[in-house]
Amino acid sequence: MNEAPTLYLCLGSACHQRRGYRLLPLLEELIRRHDLSARLRLKGAFCLENCQRGCSLKFDGRIFSDLNEENLGEIFAREILPRCQPT
Ligand code: FES
Repeated sequence: MNEAPTLYLCLGSACHQRRGYRLLPLLEELIRRHDLSARLRLKGAFCLENCQRGCSLKFDGRIFSDLNEENLGEIFAREILPRCQPT
C-alpha cells in the first residue's frame, strides 16, 4: 500500500513573519472538507529555502510560493486535490 503523500507547510521564521501560520487551519479545513485525511498528510516544515518568495508549501516535489488566505483554496484545488484522488 502506498503511503499518503505529504504536504509541507513552511512554519519557518520568514514565513511565520508573513503569518503563514494562518494557512494551517485553512489547510486542515480543506483536508477535512474533501475527506482527505487518509490520503494526504499535513506537516510543518522549518524552512523550505524559499524565504524570499512569500509563504510557501511543498507538495510532490514542488514548492508553491506567495500563498495567502485568498489564493490557497485555488492552489489546493488545482495542484493538490487532483493528486490525492483514489487510483
Ligand atoms: S522560512 Fe519559509 S521558506 Fe524559509
